[in-house]
Amino acid sequence: MDENSKVVNKVGIVGCGHVGMAAASSLFYSGLASDLVLVDHNKNLAAGEAMDLMHGQGYATRCHVSSGDYSNLVGARYIVISAGVSQKVGETRINLLNRNIEVFKQIIPKLDKYCPDAIIIIATNPVDIMTYASQEISSRPWQKIIGTGTMLDTSRFRALIGEFYGIDPRSVHAMVLGEHGDSEVPLWSSATIAGQSILSQEFLGKKLSEEDKNKIEFSVKNAAYQIIEKKGHTNWAIGFVISHLVKIIENDQKTILPISVRFEGELGLSGLCLGYPCVVGVDGIEKKMDMRLDESEKESLYKSGTLLRSCIQQLDL
Ligand SMILES: NC(=O)c1ccc[n+]([C@@H]2O[C@H](COP(=O)([O-])OP(=O)(O)OC[C@H]3O[C@@H](n4cnc5c(N)ncnc54)[C@H](O)[C@@H]3O)[C@@H](O)[C@H]2O)c1
Repeated sequence: MDENSKVVNKVGIVGCGHVGMAAASSLFYSGLASDLVLVDHNKNLAAGEAMDLMHGQGYATRCHVSSGDYSNLVGARYIVISAGVSQKVGETRINLLNRNIEVFKQIIPKLDKYCPDAIIIIATNPVDIMTYASQEISSRPWQKIIGTGTMLDTSRFRALIGEFYGIDPRSVHAMVLGEHGDSEVPLWSSATIAGQSILSQEFLGKKLSEEDKNKIEFSVKNAAYQIIEKKGHTNWAIGFVISHLVKIIENDQKTILPISVRFEGELGLSGLCLGYPCVVGVDGIEKKMDMRLDESEKESLYKSGTLLRSCIQQLDL
């Protein structure tokens, strides 16, 4: 970045595949990053992506884009980790675990060395376990290591409910919690539109039946499988999730987001990270919400947590 720039929002992307580049382009286009550094063990890929993206400056924003190695991440305020392997057709996210843990054991110590103050945003799957493992490997406070958790699933959930009623998904308040994966838990009991419970009444001439609920829930839980079957990967929506997280932290918005957070006894769970609503601001994860869940949601969340904990116990961290 040239010396005339007083405020530089430097963001490093580690892993410049489909997800990393969707995040990079969203950060670039939104003007949130003024200096983007792309790191990938395929150096040619990172160099080519950097050239390609930076040529868009004339119509987007002034943003320096370069490729480099970990030493080029000095001064970064945010690091997005999207390195590792992704799901192939029929694979669950947990199937990726051992391969991606090995990748993170290489990456995290280098980030601690070159950018110890940066907030790390983790997208690599299985994201909850990768977030917990990163917190164990890293020397930075766990509040500065944030997994994207169920932000994407929550966005899918709100989009589908919004589509059902023909309204803006941002007017739908509803969350998916738990594992970003097969055991995730859509919270119907607290889903509202204009402050009114979705379950209790008809809205805009439509009442959500059990069958409609099941269809929405199925589509949310199976979205990644369906997209991967068609195009081989998912990337655009997670790219928006990542740049949204940067925007919230950068502007200290104290927004409540279902990110992957460390559990320390809540709901009887500890030694794991799980998608759960937290206040997110300039310090990263600032507070966990107290949630009033119904009994079946509590039980499902507990099951989701114990499943992740059993995977974590098999790791050598
Ligand atoms: N959290 C979410 O909601 C969400 C959504 C979609 C995908 N994902 C996950 O994001 C990850 C990336 O997916 P993708 O489609 O971009 O995969 P991809 O294969 O396109 O990209 C991964 C990149 O990581 C790089 N890489 C591998 N090992 C590395 C290392 N040691 N150091 C640096 N770079 C390394 C590869 O060269 C590749 O460019 C996957 O684990 C995927 O499951 C998460």
